[in-house]
Amino acid sequence: MYNLTDREIVLGVSGSIAAYKAADLASKLTQAGVRLDVVLTPAAAKFVTPLTFQSVSGRPAYVDMFDTASGASELHIELARRANALLIAPASATTIARVALGLAEDLVSLTALATRAPIIVCPAMDPQMFEHEATQAHLETLRRRGLHVVGPEEGRLASGHTGPGRMSEVQTIIGALRYVLGKDADLAGRKVVVSAGGTQEPVDPVRYVGNYSSGKMGYALAEAARDRGADTVLVSGPAALPEPYAVRVLPVRQATEMRDAVLAECADADAVIMAAAVADYQPAEAVGQKIKRRQKGLSLSLVRTPDILAEIGRRAGLVKVGFAAESENLLTNARRKLDDKRLDLIVANNVTAEGSGFGSDTNRVTLVDGEGEEELPLMSKYEVACRVLDRVAAALREASPD
Ligand code: PMT
Repeated sequence: MYNLTDREIVLGVSGSIAAYKAADLASKLTQAGVRLDVVLTPAAAKFVTPLTFQSVSGRPAYVDMFDTASGASELHIELARRANALLIAPASATTIARVALGLAEDLVSLTALATRAPIIVCPAMDPQMFEHEATQAHLETLRRRGLHVVGPEEGRLASGHTGPGRMSEVQTIIGALRYVLGKDADLAGRKVVVSAGGTQEPVDPVRYVGNYSSGKMGYALAEAARDRGADTVLVSGPAALPEPYAVRVLPVRQATEMRDAVLAECADADAVIMAAAVADYQPAEAVGQKIKRRQKGLSLSLVRTPDILAEIGRRAGLVKVGFAAESENLLTNARRKLDDKRLDLIVANNVTAEGSGFGSDTNRVTLVDGEGEEELPLMSKYEVACRVLDRVAAALREASPD
């Protein structure tokens, strides 16, 4: 998974029932290629054993900071020195207080004090404890010091109470880690606008003209841009996907709304990537009341939607990328769109190929520009996004070499 592979991450687990979710987090990070070391507070080890973490990470997990046999006594210095990031998840109220006050009382707070790597803190506790003035003051201290506080989310907690205190979802935490690791990458200081999903053009109050786009391709592009340090804006049609961490999401419904949002955001952007399946036609007028099933047939009068990519026009310093969803004559049609919409690059997407196009997690595309064509094998949408962003980064470098 791009910027996670071979990174040295320390996961600090503290005493909260959410510790069980940390095992899933450890497993997902290891699968993504992270070299993961896990340290637990003694309280965390009462919820989940070190053996659980050892089994998923394939490396020893440590609790006792005075355990000379395992070398844990010098371990915190070694782990702290080589870590690319320290992730504290879950972070209990006590651990947050220790880190804020610089109290090195266990391996988690010790590592936090000894490292100079970025630290991500994911609070998890009862709402009363989270809202307490002491906890809020400690979190404020951590933020002021440049630590990243992710969550908590609102919801029902193990205590039976409802409110803020639930640890963020594993995918959100991984998104935060990728964001932190990519802050200084090759798109740092650049603004990238991505569109995703399909638009919905209302017919009446209960129906619309739409398409099968899930938004997965556009969301993967936004995540990949964020992971390379870009200030990323995602203009999204309705999609059942979680908002990516540190991406500004602008929800829209119709093509006209998408046009307004994309044009406004493009004014100061360095690149725009339109992965959205914008409806080409919309009903000439939306009927105010639900159309009844009385007539034998029904004709809808449709008019063309604005061509957003064409309307953006050419501007020096703005890299324009389109997608071409095709079911036939892939390259001929893609080239025509490249020229008509005056793009730097078009991603030709054969939506009838196996595992490709609408709704799938993978995609098979050909990158087409003025120079030629590069056919890519079937790969995950995130990997496709990385390949598209390689081209965007190269075009930006070419436009303004240091
Ligand atoms: O969302 P997923 O389920 O992951 O599916 C991904 C996808 C198949 C939607 C995506 O990979 C894709 O191919 N997106 C482009 C779909 C499309 O509308 O293609 P098009 O050939 O009709 O349009 C060409 C380009 O013009 C696109 O970049 C489109 O965003 C843009 N366009 C189209 C119409 C319009 N009115 N304004 C536009 O800007």
